[in-house]
Amino acid sequence: MSPGKTQDGRVIDYQELQRHNKATDCWVALHGQVYDLTSFLDEHPGGRRLILAQAGTDGTEAFEEVHSKDVISRTLSPETLIGALDQETVPEKAVKLPGSQPKGTMAEEGKPDLARVLNMYEFEYIARKTMKKGAWNYYSSGTDDEITLRENTSAFQRVWLIPRVLVDVSRINFETTILGYPSSAPFYMTATALGKLGHMEGELALTRAAGKSKIIHMLPTLSSFSLDEMTAVRGPDQVQFFQLYVNKDRKITERIVKQAEARGCKALFITVDAPALGNREKDMRTKFVDDRPAEMEEKDVKRSEGAARAISTFIDDTLCWADIPWFKRITHLPIVLKGIQCAADAVLAAQHGVAGIVLSNHGGRQLETARSGLEILPEVMAALKSYYADHPGPEMEVYIDGGVRRATDVIKALAMGAKAVGIGRPFLYAMSAYGQPGVEKAIQLLKDEMNMALRLLGAPTLAHLRPDMVDARNLGLHVGPPIRNYLSEAVYEPLAFGNHKL
Ligand code: FNR
Repeated sequence: MSPGKTQDGRVIDYQELQRHNKATDCWVALHGQVYDLTSFLDEHPGGRRLILAQAGTDGTEAFEEVHSKDVISRTLSPETLIGALDQETVPEKAVKLPGSQPKGTMAEEGKPDLARVLNMYEFEYIARKTMKKGAWNYYSSGTDDEITLRENTSAFQRVWLIPRVLVDVSRINFETTILGYPSSAPFYMTATALGKLGHMEGELALTRAAGKSKIIHMLPTLSSFSLDEMTAVRGPDQVQFFQLYVNKDRKITERIVKQAEARGCKALFITVDAPALGNREKDMRTKFVDDRPAEMEEKDVKRSEGAARAISTFIDDTLCWADIPWFKRITHLPIVLKGIQCAADAVLAAQHGVAGIVLSNHGGRQLETARSGLEILPEVMAALKSYYADHPGPEMEVYIDGGVRRATDVIKALAMGAKAVGIGRPFLYAMSAYGQPGVEKAIQLLKDEMNMALRLLGAPTLAHLRPDMVDARNLGLHVGPPIRNYLSEAVYEPLAFGNHKL
């Protein structure tokens, strides 16, 4: 018997469900079925709190925001199923809305017409005003004081473009290939977990928009939809890559990799910067904005809380270089290491014969004050150049991600040696605010910007982009205003002289 069927076909009315609302007796309705989750509380990867918040109620909406459909049958034992919820007895307002909309937001007043949105920051602004607080916290958060998060966009401002003139720019072409697969632009949609938090169509909206716009989408391991669902909506010529979080159980890892291969994903991006997920405090505070009953409110913030922690406890923190040959044995897919952060590791990646690397700090969500992908790029390109001079043969492709918000950002990275760049949050924000049409619009806006910027730079094709088209001398020096530490500034009491009588 699998969860979904009781032996005796019991029907539970809502009043009865409500009586089982404590840690010692915790029932939750999910998709019309009532489960006794009392003994599962301590096994829940996200901690018991998240379940307790739904105790004695219909938790479907909160559950759906994070989990893919098949997780109940994969996780719960059949004995947990009590029976079917009698829908007739469910009062109108019984379904809780976690992280309800703040009053006076754009969500209530109506969003601007999509046609009026001009750039990635506008999507971010509209998303911030309209998204559920918990979802916003998860998407936007960075680690600690979010210095690396903000540095990711700042770094692009320390690089200046050097335009060439009197070049025929009447025809601009920025099509390219990534790992040999065609892409209509030199950027791809990077993997971001939990698409449904922002929009009910989640990753399906993202991947459809990528397909229509002919850019590549990297499907995440921690998606809200199953791999089958995400690959089923792939267009005829569409290319999807797969991002892998390595499971502690290597059999599961192997099964996931084989499944990605069988479902037609064309490359395996192994995330290597996340042996544990970073300290994302905005995300951890999510529990303070939901509307659980006061008697269930615990007073302390547990560092084990938040959406990030809820989904990541399975990640293998023993993963190391010696494992790369194993991955090469279990798959024919090209392997790319996502999250390389210095030249020495880039060279190690080359020595291990992978197909590519992503210079990335995970969108500022992992190690605080780690450098931006852009800052690392020059030293990596120099190190690889000298490595390949001594070791001729196929060369890895180098990508960067983090903070890319304008086409000029993309162009700077390419001029400095990147083959393509990954873009994360802007597409999540566009999706959250406007669904698939929003994501298509975001991609189109970036392409429009590409067209204009390449024209003004005097670079009609990507082959025209060279290191001498950028002035990156200040990139590693960080001359300019430092990234402010708002928390530290807010609490710092400046030193003062004592009240001396002289
Ligand atoms: C991510 N990122 C990420 N990376 C990964 O390898 N696996 C994952 O599941 C996720 N999930 C995820 C969720 C959210 C909400 C964000 C914002 C990011 C990191 C992502 O692939 C990429 O490195 C950054 O998003 C790039 O930075 P920008 O474009 O968001 O500034």
